[in-house]
Amino acid sequence: MPAPWGLKLTGVGAALPEKVLTNQDLTAWMDTTDEWIRERTGIAERRIGGSTSGLATQAAQRALSDAGVDAQSIDQVILATTSPDHVCPGTAPAVARELGLDCGAFDVQAACSGWVYGLVVANGLLLQGLERILVIGAESLDRITDYHDRGTGILFGNGAGAAVVERDDTGTGQLLGWDLGSNGNYVHILYADHGDVLQMDGKEVFRQAVQVIQRSAKATMEQAGVEADDIDLVIPHQANIRIVESAWKKLGFSMDKTAMVLERTGNTSAASIPLALDDALVNGRIEPGDLVMFLGFGAGMTWASALVRWNA
Ligand code: UT7
Repeated sequence: MPAPWGLKLTGVGAALPEKVLTNQDLTAWMDTTDEWIRERTGIAERRIGGSTSGLATQAAQRALSDAGVDAQSIDQVILATTSPDHVCPGTAPAVARELGLDCGAFDVQAACSGWVYGLVVANGLLLQGLERILVIGAESLDRITDYHDRGTGILFGNGAGAAVVERDDTGTGQLLGWDLGSNGNYVHILYADHGDVLQMDGKEVFRQAVQVIQRSAKATMEQAGVEADDIDLVIPHQANIRIVESAWKKLGFSMDKTAMVLERTGNTSAASIPLALDDALVNGRIEPGDLVMFLGFGAGMTWASALVRWNA
């Protein structure tokens, strides 16, 4: 159900580690080519290095500065990640510590759908009376990626994106619809065991992703009572450009109204949607009142979509 009051994203920030790993770099030790990777995935380069908590903190500080608010005004820290600093504890408390906070802080582990899960959870916490929440997506996937495996090593990179999410008493900003889903029968198509690297059946992930994207987007649009044409910008999980293009054909979305940063970030799992959101805002692609659809999908399988009317 849409919230009876507003939700607004008042500040957004991103962080990428400095070290760039290009397709060309990979060809030094992998049987692949720049051309193949670009054609089959849409990726030209990805970033490596840094830590999940470090990148998350940097993105959060930039989001706070963009919102023009002090860290002390944050009521909760939600960190979506599939590559936490430690198996235990979660990474969110360390991020809260770095920001000088002792409020509630917890990780969301829903793989590439995690940031959208976090946004929907934040909406629920705002309904419970909280005022201002940091929703961060951050990954250091280089820790669980084998860059010698051409099935996975071409895809993944590090990064973080964060948003300050607040109650909007004017009611202009709204979460108009959302959908969260999972199918645990597909755990085996993309997973990493303790201490091991990501294992993936790329073809099956591709096939399933195209299906669940459509299902989730349709559920959210139906709940919000909108059609594909009404949506001003779609911000999908940045996994493979061909996954997006295949799903878009069936959904009636256009690439012109899609935010993509995949080419220069690779797949940054839970960080990819807020990274693309930051890029869209920096490039002036979102206006007050716009309908913005976030669309995540990934390991689990999990999927998540949320339709937001952008605040003034
Ligand atoms: O957040 C979700 C994360 N996961 C994903 O999004 C993964 C989704 N899946 C994919 O992105 C694609 O399945 C891959 C990019 C991983 C693979 O692309 P594909 O088009 O499914 O390739 P394929 O596995 O069907 O392989 C096609 C050909 C094969 O050669 P032959 O048998 O046709 O001669 C592979 O051996 O391409 C070869 N190949 C490569 N060649 C150069 C596979 N990987 C590579 C490579 N470089 N990296």
